[in-house]
Amino acid sequence: MESKKASHELLNLLNRAIARELQVSIQYMFQHSIAAGHNSSTTGKKLSSKLYKFMASHSSVWLPGSSLKKIAIIEMKHAEAITERIVQLGGEPTTKPDTVAIGKTPREMLENDREQERDAIQLYRQIIEVADKERDDATKKLFQHILSDEEKHHQLFTDLLDADQRN
Ligand SMILES: [Fe+2]
Ligand SMILES: [Fe+2]
Repeated sequence: MESKKASHELLNLLNRAIARELQVSIQYMFQHSIAAGHNSSTTGKKLSSKLYKFMASHSSVWLPGSSLKKIAIIEMKHAEAITERIVQLGGEPTTKPDTVAIGKTPREMLENDREQERDAIQLYRQIIEVADKERDDATKKLFQHILSDEEKHHQLFTDLLDADQRN
């Protein structure tokens, strides 16, 4: 179907996307696990804030509502889809995540996460532009879909941090 090769510019951008998707899927899952660990009775730290509930929730991916664990799984699926695409385009997918930044308090953790989403939105808008220039419709569509997920994550983290600020 698609015989043309992607440019080095596009392949490099796709690898930057994989590195950051791997990073955030680790980052969010660890933040979830740390919060869930603190929330268990054994550490004696029962956590009541909205931020902690969101982070510590074990809710399953197929149940309604949002949790950091669900978002971590979505990020892993993004990494999967981008890796598949880079291979289709003849590229070599990276296995190296960008530097994971956990944070110490729930607020610091979610601030780190919001920053990641903001960076992702910038990078993915750039990828959509380059894919459009190269008439690579499949990559463009993939990133339009992923971008809408990242915009939702960014909004959700912002809303949680704003609500926390008001309390
Ligand atoms: Fe993502
Ligand atoms: Fe995201």
